[in-house]
Amino acid sequence: MSQPSSAAAGTSTEKSWQARISEATDAIAQAFVESVSYDWRLYKQDVAGSVAHAHMLAACGLLTEDERTTITAGLREIEREIDASQAAWPGFKPEYEDIHMCVEAELIRRVGEPGRKLHTGRSRNDQVATDLMLWTIDATRELGTLYENVLKAFVAMADRSADVVMPSYTHLQRAQPIVAGAEVLAWAEALARGLERLVRSAERYEFPLGAGAIAGSSLPLDRKQTLWSAKRMGILPGDTNPLAASSIDATATRDTAVEFVFGLAMIAQTLGRWAEQWIIYMTTEFGFIKIADRYTTSSSMMPQKRNPDMLELIRGRTANVYGDLFALMTLLKGIPIGYNRDLQEDKRLLFRAYDTVTQCLTMAAAIVGSASFDKARIEPTLDRGFLDATSLAEYLVTKAVPFRTAHHIVGTLVATCEKAGKHALGQLTVDEFNAVLADHNVPARLTDDVYKALGAANVTERYQTIGAAGGKPFRDQLAGWKRRLGM
Ligand code: ARG
Repeated sequence: MSQPSSAAAGTSTEKSWQARISEATDAIAQAFVESVSYDWRLYKQDVAGSVAHAHMLAACGLLTEDERTTITAGLREIEREIDASQAAWPGFKPEYEDIHMCVEAELIRRVGEPGRKLHTGRSRNDQVATDLMLWTIDATRELGTLYENVLKAFVAMADRSADVVMPSYTHLQRAQPIVAGAEVLAWAEALARGLERLVRSAERYEFPLGAGAIAGSSLPLDRKQTLWSAKRMGILPGDTNPLAASSIDATATRDTAVEFVFGLAMIAQTLGRWAEQWIIYMTTEFGFIKIADRYTTSSSMMPQKRNPDMLELIRGRTANVYGDLFALMTLLKGIPIGYNRDLQEDKRLLFRAYDTVTQCLTMAAAIVGSASFDKARIEPTLDRGFLDATSLAEYLVTKAVPFRTAHHIVGTLVATCEKAGKHALGQLTVDEFNAVLADHNVPARLTDDVYKALGAANVTERYQTIGAAGGKPFRDQLAGWKRRLGM
């Protein structure tokens, strides 16, 4: 079915390129090619990008001020309607393929001739790259809001765990004693870095609008003006975003999407590791952590079970986000430069990764809010595993013993304990300590004072270095977090 290409066209649902293609798209092909069923989520960014573009067109004399006002008002009206009805907005028609065509067609239907000028010097290729970039910026902002709850939950838990001493683990073997709250803050730190990574990369995103289909435009479009409008509208994170320098690269690249999904994958990784840690802590063998029953499930067969399914799903969903990242990377592998329709698939991956991570963050905040360390279970085990061995070696350093010698001496003392059936260095007498010092030709002799460096609780109070897992350094970290979150 051929269509008229005159100004009168565009009132029914024919496509803007119908003049060239001799028959209507096959129904199977139409369902196959459409993306509006999921890319409708770009509508706010699509409208914002169009408003900035119209502003520039007017500044360059390609639209009159009246036309620009009409276009902008029409777009904002459409935006408000979609705000209200979301995916159910009647303007989302699969025959228009995507969000860009649906919004433009509806605009033309409403405002007529001026609407037909909006796409001047623009292609869906630079439009979709712009929308996607703006969407990741908005999504990063939304993550920031969600993050407040998540970080507050972790910091509040660190606060209520400030007087719990627990073992830390390397190689999943007992290492040094720590304040339990310090481990909670470690997760907060890693999660916060995940958000900061996204925020920082958003500040460097290159603005593609004005690149057109691939080669730019022969019209006197002022891309700097579009960028300036976008910045003034507050849809870019700051003054830092540059113009994409090459129109070919700008329409072909998906660096923005990759950086965003990579950032999400790093957040998912942290969440997955945290979930695994707590799953271990919730075993009968450990019994370190309790979470509310409402975040557990039971077994259909074993009546005694209380399973940490939510944590397991958080751990499991990390795989989905990694999958989205790898799918995106694979999508980009080997496609020639310039826009290729393969790129349309990027949005499914991006949205899915974002939805997965936001759901996991929300779940994590709720679980953490309900959790506490089981001090009564942890404390009786603290004198197992020679957690204070490193502290004793450092104590010897303060008595002028070289660290390597001190390390050897303490290793000998631990072996002495094990041979004598003692489970803790604190069970040795001062004479037993001094005998081993003498054996190592160390002139120093110890007194009762040595016991201050022994015992998990004593040790955590002795930590002095910035960022350390107990004592003043821990209290400083906690205070810093509370200040940062206004708690
Ligand atoms: N829906 C398309 C996408 O998401 C928009 C760009 C289409 N461009 C084209 N020349 N067919 O990538």
